[in-house]
This record gives sequence, structure tokens and C-alpha cells, in this order.
Amino acid sequence: MDKFIPVNEPLIGKREKELINECLDTGWISSEGPFVEKFEHSLSKNVNRKYGIACSSGTAALDLAIASLAIGPEDEVIMPAFTIISCASAVIKSGAKPVLIDANERTWNMNIDHVEAAITSKTVAIMAVHIYGLPVDMDPLIEIANKYGLYIIEDAAELIGAKYKDKPCGSFGHVSTFSFYPNKQITTGEGGMVLTDDLEISKRCKSLRNLCFQEDNRFVHNELGWNYRMTNLQAALGIAQLEKLDSTVKKKMKIGELYNKYLAEVNQIELPLIETEFAKNIYWVFGILINPKIDTAKNIISKLKKLKIGTRPFFYPMHKQPVLKKMNIFKKNYFPVSERLYEQGLYLPSGLTLKEEEIKIVSQKLKMII
Ligand SMILES: Cc1ncc(COP(=O)(O)O)c(C=O)c1O
Repeated sequence: MDKFIPVNEPLIGKREKELINECLDTGWISSEGPFVEKFEHSLSKNVNRKYGIACSSGTAALDLAIASLAIGPEDEVIMPAFTIISCASAVIKSGAKPVLIDANERTWNMNIDHVEAAITSKTVAIMAVHIYGLPVDMDPLIEIANKYGLYIIEDAAELIGAKYKDKPCGSFGHVSTFSFYPNKQITTGEGGMVLTDDLEISKRCKSLRNLCFQEDNRFVHNELGWNYRMTNLQAALGIAQLEKLDSTVKKKMKIGELYNKYLAEVNQIELPLIETEFAKNIYWVFGILINPKIDTAKNIISKLKKLKIGTRPFFYPMHKQPVLKKMNIFKKNYFPVSERLYEQGLYLPSGLTLKEEEIKIVSQKLKMII
């Protein structure tokens, strides 16, 4: 009988166990342990940043990023319609307003050509979110941000280890963020990091992630923060995972190459771009679009599930989210590309334990359904 092929499975090795055991043996299991700073230093060095602030998730990292820039009521933040809820919720919880931009049809990232027209006197920041495998075209975005004096918040959760024009993703924002959920190129189980070159921002993030305790007056608070601390156990995993980041990215790219090979002649599905003029696709996940004349992504997902293949739908666009619709915060409520991506898009098993044989099986079953 065929084995279920999950959408993701993390790759945990000997080194992870060795460092986790070190935490257990020494008793350093909380955020006070030495691996947290070590992980922050190693990863920020890897992406050419001065400071890294480890935290409990990618969602927490976005909350810290927004709060550290003092973004709040009366402010507007430009961001993609096609992304995860964490991006919008960080902005909304701060009291600021998200202003949505539709996706680019081919890269699935925010369409840079629409950004300048969305800027108002209230705009304070642009949130660039790298989606699925290709980075946002950062140079024109940085030019716009500089022209209008705006911050860039870069959400590089999905593109750890990827490059835009030879510079690492995560190195472009005034504040950049990562997630270390188990489907990411580095996992700590749950976890995230804020990266910045600005000392003040880094200090703000450190304070905000730790309930805004004061150094000399610990339990007297001038501000409200969160407990978004990362534990030493999580950081131990992170260090071991970072050591093999290059080979992890190569594996992801190999998975992409194999799917491209086995699905090449299927006319009814649109495959992701292999590269753009500024970056190679690293295939954090291998996303595909089903021709609407054939079926919806939802139907294909349930058919694949019956054939023991795990998949995920594409993001549900922000302007369609019931919780956000109730708040009535979006001026525009039609983003056709993002809507089409949701209707027709899904991603196939893309985890690091995936074997060529399994990619073949997934591709064959998909072809059979279509
Ligand atoms: C682009 C992006 N940002 C933020 C997050 C949130 O990260 P976490 O699940 O660690 O909270 C994710 C999660 O997958 C993501 O893909």
C-alpha cells in the first residue's frame, strides 16, 4: 500500500540532538541559556546584519518589527494582499492601517508597479514579503521607500538562505524578519528572528520581547511588551540547522528542479518561474496553478488527499478574510491576481526528507487526476 506523502517533514540530524542534549545536561533550557545569543550572532552574520533578536515565532517577529518602529494609529503600511495573516495582524494590532497591493502574476509577490500610487501622507512603511521561492524585486522598492522617506519591513520568513542579486534575503529591511516553523529552511520547532543594523531598533526589540522589564528596576514597567522569548532548546536546534543551511537550500532547489522535470509537459498546470532577472527560485514550497478550465485548487487538493498526497492551498487574500472584512479597513476590495492565485493555486509536498521517487509519485498522481 502507498505511504502517505506529507506536505512537509523537517530534517533533524545528529548535531541537533547533540546540542539539545547539551541543554538538557547543563540545565540551560530557558531563554537565559548561551545558545540564544550564539544563534543570533551566527544568523545575523550569515545575512550580513549587525543585530539579530531571536523570538518565539515569525508572527512575533513581525509584531516586534512594527512596534520597534513605533508604527501605530494614523499610520498606513503598504503590504501585499497575497500573504499570511501575520503580516496584516501585526499592522492592525498596532492600530495602523494595512494598505493592500495585488500580486504580480508570475512571481506571486507584491506587484511593485502598484506601490507608488498607494502612498499617501499617512504611509510610514512598506512591508515586502518574499512569497514561496522568489524574492520581491527590492531595488525599485528601496528607491520608492527612499524617495518618500518610508521604512522597509522585510518579511523573509520563507526565503532564509535565498539571494536577491547576490545579497541575502533578510538583509534589505530597516527591520527584517524570519520564521523557524518546521517547514522553513531553518527550524527551531517554533521560533523567529528580527534582524536590523540599527542599534536602537535592536534594543527596542529586545525589551519588547521580554515584557519591557527594566534593567535596574525589573518589575517597574514604563511600557507593555510581550513574552516572545526564544528558549535555549530552540536556539540549539537553530544553530545546528544554520550549519547546514547551504545544503538545505540546495536540496530545496533540487526538489524544484525534479518537479519541473516530471511536470514539464502538463499543459493544464502553470509551474513556478525558475528564475527572474534578479534571483533564482529556491522553492521554499513548490507551488502550481491549475488551469481554471480543468478544476479548482480546492478540488485537486481533496483528490490528492484521497491518493495520500499532502498539499496546502495558497494564501487566502487579506481583503477576503472574514475577520478583516468585518473591520471594514480596506479601501479597495478587489485584487484579481491574488484571488486567482487562491482559487487555482496549491503547493505540493516540498519537505527536506522528500525523495526523488516520491516526487515522481506525486507528479504521476497529479497528472492522472488532471
Ligand atoms: C511570509 C511569512 N511570514 C510570517 C509567517 C509566520 O511565521 P510563524 O508561523 O513562525 O509565526 C509565515 C509562516 O509561515 C510566513 O510564511
